[in-house]
Formats: sequence, C-alpha cells, structure tokens
Amino acid sequence: LKELHALLQEANEADRSAALLWLCFYPEVLRTLEREDAEHYYQLKGAWRLEDHLAASHAFLYGHRYWNEVLAAIVENNCDGSDLVTQTRQLIAKLPHSPAELIGIAVVGLMARRQLGAAALQAANAITSTGPDVASRMKQRATDHKPGMMARLKGEKASIRVLFDENKTDAWFPIIATQEITTAAEADKRPWHEADARCNPGMGPIPVDCKSGSCGTCWVGILAGNENLEPMSDFERKRIAYFGYHDNPFIDPSDHKPLIRLACQAVVKGSVSIVIPPWNGVFGESRRKRETAR
Ligand code: FES
Repeated sequence: LKELHALLQEANEADRSAALLWLCFYPEVLRTLEREDAEHYYQLKGAWRLEDHLAASHAFLYGHRYWNEVLAAIVENNCDGSDLVTQTRQLIAKLPHSPAELIGIAVVGLMARRQLGAAALQAANAITSTGPDVASRMKQRATDHKPGMMARLKGEKASIRVLFDENKTDAWFPIIATQEITTAAEADKRPWHEADARCNPGMGPIPVDCKSGSCGTCWVGILAGNENLEPMSDFERKRIAYFGYHDNPFIDPSDHKPLIRLACQAVVKGSVSIVIPPWNGVFGESRRKRETAR
C-alpha cells in the first residue's frame, strides 16, 4: 500500500487524490456482497455495479482522456491487476504519454480489470469527452467564488463554495463557514434529480435522505481543500464504519480528515472540491457479519 501511495505521488497533481477517490468509490468488498437480494439487503441504490458504467466512472480524473489507450494496453499485455504498482509501471512504459499523466488512470484500469475480468473491460464503452486540463483543474479546485465586476455591480458577493464536478463550470454552490455541506447544497434549486434519480427535487445535487447520519446516502469524496473541513466527529466516524465506506485499504481509519466523508456531517471552514459517487449503500462489517451468521 505504501508503494501505491508513493506511485500516486508521481502522478500529475490533478490525479493524485482523484485516483485514490476512485479506489474508495469502488472497493473490492462490494464485489463480495454475493446474495440474490444484495441490492435490498445492503440498501444499494444508484449505479453501484461498476460494470454498468465503467468508462464513465473515472470522468473526474484528468487521465480519463487516456482510458481507451490504457484499456487496450491492459488487454494486449494480459495484465490482471494483481500487482497494481508493478503492472502500472509496465503499462505506462508502453504508452506514448508522460508517465505522470497516465499513472492515475492506469491504476484505475488495473483495479477494474482485477475486479471485473478482461471480458468486462473489453466491453467498456469508449469515452467521448475529456474535461479540463491539469492547470485549469488545479486553478479551480477549492477556490472561493469571486464574481466579476458586472456581477458585483448587480449585488453578487464573493463567497466560499463547494465545487462538485470540475468538468462543468456551473457545478458549485456557495456555502457559509460552519455549515454542513448538504445544508448549503439545499439552496441549489436546479433540477439535479433529472440527472441522478437519488436526488430529491429541490434538495440540491448531493443525494440525501435523513441529513442526520442515519442513511449513508450523502457520502462524498474530498478531491481538494481537505484542510478547509473540520475533523470528523466520533459520530460521523462510527456511521461511516457502519455504512462500509471506509472498508478498503486505501483509507486510514485513524485519519481525522479522511478522503471519504458524510456531507450531512462534514462542516466546512473554507472552499472545498468534492466528487459525488453515483451510488450508496449500507454494507459495513457489522452488517456483513450479521449476514454471514444468518
Ligand atoms: S443524508 Fe443520511 S447520512 Fe447524510
């Protein structure tokens, strides 16, 4: 694991945390929930089957643009993802781009291969969009909203904000320091439910059910600005463990500001950039043990 973290440090700065987030969004434990009624029992909602949206699952990585090439190289070289670090180095040596640009997406591709097998990888749709370059992403991430002169004249004010999709210029909402992320998101009345059926109309772009840490719907990945979040409370930590979102080796359970948070519990003190995973569920260890006991 240390070697993987060291490898990701060699990735371009836009993909270091993004690749880790992808690994957290699609943990191997999800593949072990093998029962006919898994969806019902583990309360899985949204696009939780990686094979159904593999090519789109990493659109928040800069390296997304190299997906087709990475995919072809994985298949051609019979990589199985068993050793992420060694095989990533082998792959990036074969492709005609800078290693820093490829590392993140190669790690993602190999993990997808490990979980889904070669056939699913070959069936993954080709990507068509690429998103902003590294410099534009880094310039935007975790930055305050600063209205232009005309907007200021109309009364628009500077604010801290939450960016939730850096492939879109308008995917952000303002937030007040000491607010929970979902509280601020609710003021965004655009029809986000049309793009994600888990969103409630008028409740913002982050899916929520309870807003009290009970349901696990609102989990998000922190792409940038982690320093602008308050540390996790004991309550948030316990709830995340119950839901299972920290059940993977890429999260340090003792970290007081981990990359995965519950947006209804996470309080900001400055601008942050987040990624909203396309699914949610309740599959923590205690629930899995109960299932095994049954
Ligand atoms: S909305 Fe239910 S846990 Fe956050």
